Amino acid sequence: MIVERDKDLKRLNTLGLSAKAVWYAAPGSVKEVIELLSDTRFTALPKLVIGSGSNTLFCEDYNGLVVRPAIMDISISEISDKSLKLKVGAGVDWDKFVAYCVDRGWGGVENLSGIPGCVGASPVQNIGAYGSEAKDTIVLVDYIDICTLQQRRLTAPECHFGYRESIFKQELKGKTIITYVTFELALNPVVNTTYADVKERLKSAENPTLYDIRKAIIDIRKAKLPDPAEVGNAGSFFKNPIVEESFAEKLMESNPTLRLYPSSPGFTKIPAAWLIEQCGFKGVRELNVGVHKNHALVLLAYEGATGRELLEFAQKIKRTVKARFSIDIDMEVNVTASS
Ligand code: EPU
Repeated sequence: MIVERDKDLKRLNTLGLSAKAVWYAAPGSVKEVIELLSDTRFTALPKLVIGSGSNTLFCEDYNGLVVRPAIMDISISEISDKSLKLKVGAGVDWDKFVAYCVDRGWGGVENLSGIPGCVGASPVQNIGAYGSEAKDTIVLVDYIDICTLQQRRLTAPECHFGYRESIFKQELKGKTIITYVTFELALNPVVNTTYADVKERLKSAENPTLYDIRKAIIDIRKAKLPDPAEVGNAGSFFKNPIVEESFAEKLMESNPTLRLYPSSPGFTKIPAAWLIEQCGFKGVRELNVGVHKNHALVLLAYEGATGRELLEFAQKIKRTVKARFSIDIDMEVNVTASS
C-alpha cells in the first residue's frame, strides 16, 4: 500500500474543491486498513474517511490522514429460495454495485441507481432516492474501530438508521472505517414505482423490470441533476426538513404549489428545494458558486470556487429560508476541517 504525502484532493471530491491532505492512503483490504492505522506516524493525527468524496466539503487543507477504503471484492454469503446476502467491499462504486445486482435480476437497490459514491458510504447517511433507502436492504455493516483496531459488526437495527441518519453520523462519527456492507436482495423482486416521477416515466410500461426502473431513474437524474464531471456538486446539499404536520398544513394553505412527503407519524418532510426556490436562489450564480437551474437543492462549485465561499453561500441560503419560513434546513454534506 502506498502512503502519499501532500496529496492533492481536488479530484477526490465531487465538488472539485482544492485541498491537500498531509497523508493519504487507499487500503485495499482489512489487513491493509489495520496496518495503516497501526503505523505510529499517524497515531496522534486526525483521520478522515472519504469514500468517493461525493458528500465532502473541504474548507481547508486536511492536517492529518485521509483514508479512501479500496476494498473491492463482492461475495455471496448466504442464499435461500427467496433472497441472497451479498457482502460487498466498501470501495466498490455504488452504481456499479447496483448495475451488478440488476444484471443478475437481484432486486432491492435498483431505485438507488445513479447515486454517486462508494458502497462504504451507503450506511453512513442511509442514502435514499425514489422511494428506497439503503436501510431497506442492508443487513450487516463490518467496520474497524479506529482507536482499538478491532473488527466489529453491526446488524441493521444496531445501525439506528433514519432519514439520512445512522449511528455512523452520531455515536460512531469519526471512529470507524467501514470495510464491508452486506445486503439482502430479492431473487423474485417486486418493483417499486410509487415515487411520482418514476410512476410518470413508466406509465406505459406494463410489467416494468429492474432494468426499466434503473433506466427510468438514471434518465430522471440526468434531466435534473448536474454531472460532477461537468460542474462541481455534491448532489443534494441540504436535507429535507421534517416539521410538525400542523405547521406544514398551515404553510400549504398559503402555498398551494408546496408538495409534502411522508415522515414519521405527526410529522411531514418539506422539500428543501421548494423552500430554496421560493427564496429566489434557483439558477442564481454568485462569483464562483451557485444553485443549479434545474434543481434548487444542488449547489454548484464552479472552477476556482473555494470551500469557504461555498459554505458562506450555503449559510446565506439557510438564513434566508429561516427568515422567510421559520424553518431550519441542515446541510447534508460534511464540512471537513482538521483543526
Ligand atoms: N422541488 C422544487 N424545486 C426544485 C426541485 C424540486 O420545488 O428545484 C420540489 C418539487 O415539489 C418536488 C420536490 O421538491 O416534487 C421533491 O423533489 P425531488 O423529487 O427532486 O426530491 P428531493 O426531495 O429534492 C430527494 C433526495 C435526492 C433524491 C430525490 C429523489 C434528499 C436530501 N434528497 O431530493 O437525493 O434523488 O429525493 O428521491 O433527501 C442526494 O441525496 O444527493 C439526492 C440527490
